[in-house]
Amino acid sequence: MKLRSIELEVPDRESAVRFLSETWGLLEAGARNNISYLRGTEDIPYIVSVAQAEETAVAAVTFSGSKPELERIRKRASAAGAPLGPVRDFDEPGGGSGYFLEGPEGHVFRFVTEKKRVKRLRPDRDRPMQVTHVVLNARDREACTRFAVEVLGFRLSDRTGFMNFVRCDRVHHAIAYAQADNSQLNHIAFEMTDIDAVMRGIGRLKDAGIESFWGPGRHGPGNNVFAYFVAPFGAAIEYTSEVQRVSSSYKTGTPHDWKWPPNRNDHWGVSPRNSAAISRAEREFRFRPLAVTSRA
Ligand SMILES: [Fe+2]
Repeated sequence: MKLRSIELEVPDRESAVRFLSETWGLLEAGARNNISYLRGTEDIPYIVSVAQAEETAVAAVTFSGSKPELERIRKRASAAGAPLGPVRDFDEPGGGSGYFLEGPEGHVFRFVTEKKRVKRLRPDRDRPMQVTHVVLNARDREACTRFAVEVLGFRLSDRTGFMNFVRCDRVHHAIAYAQADNSQLNHIAFEMTDIDAVMRGIGRLKDAGIESFWGPGRHGPGNNVFAYFVAPFGAAIEYTSEVQRVSSSYKTGTPHDWKWPPNRNDHWGVSPRNSAAISRAEREFRFRPLAVTSRA
């Protein structure tokens, strides 16, 4: 199972696509039915879709897996009474068939069959490779984590004082739940080739008039280098690199394992953090309820 893409809706699709391609570094991968698709340099047909809509929203966070994996999740979701959409084919780059399902706080996930991949492009320090994790706000992160583990079949990698990190493959986390007073999108992380690529990205965004609101720094859980920004279309987005890959023997960390010395919030202890910008951006995108999604 692999985190594949995120499906966004925005009122000004054209300018969001312009930012994501010209400034953020993604490549346009076609458009259809009022939806633009963007890819990174990995062999994934697209990693972000941007649909024209009246309000900003997340339509889904998409995972790809084998047919048996999808069937197992569907069975467990059905047994758990989670809202489930019908199985259908998707008309999008990469195609595939699958379904939507909704987690306990309305987070919408989509599972699609692993279909033909596209050609991997040459690594480029000015372009993201792929989406490596999505962080979701949660009122009850423990209940959301239980759902991710018991229904989706993910594994808990780490718990800190306010976040739970779950994985679906060797990447330390595909989803993290951040304790919050809402259930909206917290941020989307794009994996870059290396730390230089993250630093170059910080420079490129600065040239475009966008300062990072947190970073550069290095996180504890996942050990990744990070820099966070607010995209002009409202979402909090992250450049990251060196994300830890873990094996099945990885020992799940506890809040006690991830305590920082006072006044520090990352390994380096130097990254400035603009809390006002964070709290604005990290509640901009709510999930579109599944009932609406599955009628589309
Ligand atoms: Fe992140």
